[in-house]
Amino acid sequence: MNILIAYGTSEGHTHKIAQTVASQIEKMGHEAVLYDTARNPEGSRPDEFDRIVVAGSVHERGHQQSVEVFVLANKAVLDEKPTLFLSVSLSAAFADGQAEARSYIDRFVEGTGWKPGHSLPVAGATHTGEYDYFQTQILEHGVLKDRTETGGDAEFTDWQALSDAIDSFVTS
Ligand SMILES: Cc1cc2nc3c(=O)[nH]c(=O)nc-3n(C[C@H](O)[C@H](O)[C@H](O)COP(=O)(O)O)c2cc1C
Repeated sequence: MNILIAYGTSEGHTHKIAQTVASQIEKMGHEAVLYDTARNPEGSRPDEFDRIVVAGSVHERGHQQSVEVFVLANKAVLDEKPTLFLSVSLSAAFADGQAEARSYIDRFVEGTGWKPGHSLPVAGATHTGEYDYFQTQILEHGVLKDRTETGGDAEFTDWQALSDAIDSFVTS
């Protein structure tokens, strides 16, 4: 089986997630192809794949525009194949952020009209050295609030939960 992993990333964590997913798929004996939607959102050939994973991260409550363009451009193909949508956010890292994390997926589904076969909120990471003043303010006051310190880089991804989701997506 060959599986396309189309992803959008702003600070690189979703790229790391996409790479991790690809190597798991390969270890399971299948072929995985990574596709960065920012490079050329309409240039991939999802029709040539058996299954498709779409991954994007959330900034100010929305996913990358390139991920949206990819989905809109390939909606007919996505509708007829087994698909998994991974929505990477910091809200997904906290027990009291789960409803918010799910709402990003609902918003994406509403905006694109694409209903992924499966979807999973995935907890992301902070890269505090890379943010400008405004990004830091948004993160501290809009997203993290007082839930955790923002003093350094932190990775919240539950790699085991992600691995389980990929396992069941590939074997189902
Ligand atoms: C400016 C900014 C805005 C963000 N907005 C949100 C948000 O609205 N909700 C949320 O849960 N996480 C938010 N995040 C957290 C990102 O989703 C998280 O850092 C994720 O790991 C980024 O993935 P990426 O490195 O692939 O872009 C924001 C992060 C930044 C820097």
